[in-house]
Amino acid sequence: MKTVSACIFDLDGVLVDTAKYHFIAWRNLAARWHIELTHEENEKLKGVSRKDSLLHIVALGDITLTDEEIEHWCAVKNEEYLSLVAGMNASELLPNVVELLEELKTKHIKIGLGSASKNAAFILEKTGIQHFFEAVVSGNDVTHSKPHPEVFHKGAKMLGVKSEETIVFEDSQKGIQAAKSGGFYAVGIGKEEDLKTADLVIPSFEKYTFEDIKQSLSQINKI
Ligand code: BG6
Ligand code: MG
Repeated sequence: MKTVSACIFDLDGVLVDTAKYHFIAWRNLAARWHIELTHEENEKLKGVSRKDSLLHIVALGDITLTDEEIEHWCAVKNEEYLSLVAGMNASELLPNVVELLEELKTKHIKIGLGSASKNAAFILEKTGIQHFFEAVVSGNDVTHSKPHPEVFHKGAKMLGVKSEETIVFEDSQKGIQAAKSGGFYAVGIGKEEDLKTADLVIPSFEKYTFEDIKQSLSQINKI
């Protein structure tokens, strides 16, 4: 088995149950133009920046927006999202996340965050897990949205590790693509059918330790 010296986590839908709040806020915004945001379309939005998500949604209704309108509707969506996460606390961390982060710390595996969200630091703080992270790369720090690997390459650089010794954990198709094209191991969190190109897909961290994940990757000759 090869050495794994770092793990980089996506935030929304991997560490914390915020994917549902992004979905609610986008679905409500889409309804303003009588566009119905389906589960399938929403899967395509996961991991995508706020502006690119808006452009994807309005394109579904053949709508074009001016730069001012884009700015306006992004602000409206974010306002609703922020009101949905305002009362968030550690109880909305996904199962076993804290245990996994503690296991990594004990084993001296470096921990980074690679999120498209500009609200990432705020959510980490709200849920009280910011102290685990040696590197935090968010939507404020990148030029290219996932599936571009920039967010993970920046994270690996900050941690001082190579992509080939790092596992990326992602719940989005775009994020898995970003991890694979950047040379990382890619572990999908969610459903196999949504995350076909991942090296391994697990439903959640519940019942999985870091050792279990490494073992599973090794059994399928990925590591
Ligand atoms: C990603 C989410 O993590 O961040 C997307 O998967 C979201 O759903 C994107 O749109 C941008 O988030 P924010 O908080 O900057 O609007
Ligand atoms: Mg995500």
